[in-house]
Amino acid sequence: MKAIILLGAPGVGKGTVAEAIRDTMGLTHLSTGDMLRAAVKAATPVGLKAESFMKRGELVPDEVILALVFDRIDRDGKDSAFLFDGFPRTSEQAKLLDEGLARREGAVDRVVLLEAPRDLCIERLCGRLTCRKCAAIYHARNHPPKNPGRCDLCGGEVVTRPDDKRETIENRLDVFKRQTEGLIALYDGRGLLARVNSAQPKEKTIADTLRALGGSK
Ligand code: AP5
Repeated sequence: MKAIILLGAPGVGKGTVAEAIRDTMGLTHLSTGDMLRAAVKAATPVGLKAESFMKRGELVPDEVILALVFDRIDRDGKDSAFLFDGFPRTSEQAKLLDEGLARREGAVDRVVLLEAPRDLCIERLCGRLTCRKCAAIYHARNHPPKNPGRCDLCGGEVVTRPDDKRETIENRLDVFKRQTEGLIALYDGRGLLARVNSAQPKEKTIADTLRALGGSK
């Protein structure tokens, strides 16, 4: 089982890059944020538990996340290649991911750290629009949908995420610093980390990520 991780602060462009490279590289995109939002929308027990954490921009408890991730991995089968977006986010999640992958004859292959200044992440999140149906990502100024309010891909409603409010964005960035940033040293120490500058045009960031992963471009 192959596992690639996209690591980086909120708004750095993890979802945007994942959308662009998953098909080219034949990877199954696993975004814990998208999975949690789907659970909230469907009012499942996981969704009901996660909603208040997400509204505040805090992390959802590790045990909820791990159950969600491995349920999905086991449904897809151990021959799949996964692209993790927004997971792992704590050292405990990273440890449990290693253990869970090892039990399934897998390991983390590569970690791409997307990097951009905090102010740029805030600007991107303040203008972000997301499709409620297929989770496609837009930006009010840089990348608006062709028909205002409607997704180019599926026609779904395009909205501002409830956690894309200035105050919640600031908290999410602080939470990243406090609880997730330590993973950079962890994966760097294991020789798995590649750094990609995402404070550059989207196409360039995507091409640099593909190169870092040994894909084309
Ligand atoms: P999640 O959905 O994972 O949010 P996040 O990590 O805060 O990241 P974002 O989705 O906000 O940003 P992104 O880096 O994907 O940027 P994007 O590509 O959209 O998590 C949400 C919540 O769920 C968490 O707060 C937590 O509560 C919970 N959660 C999720 N996973 C969890 C876990 N493992 N453990 C515990 N809790 C968890 O881009 C942003 C904008 O910028 C877009 O408008 C885009 O068009 C634009 N843009 C992107 N790249 C560029 C570029 N190069 N140039 C110009 N514009 C760009």
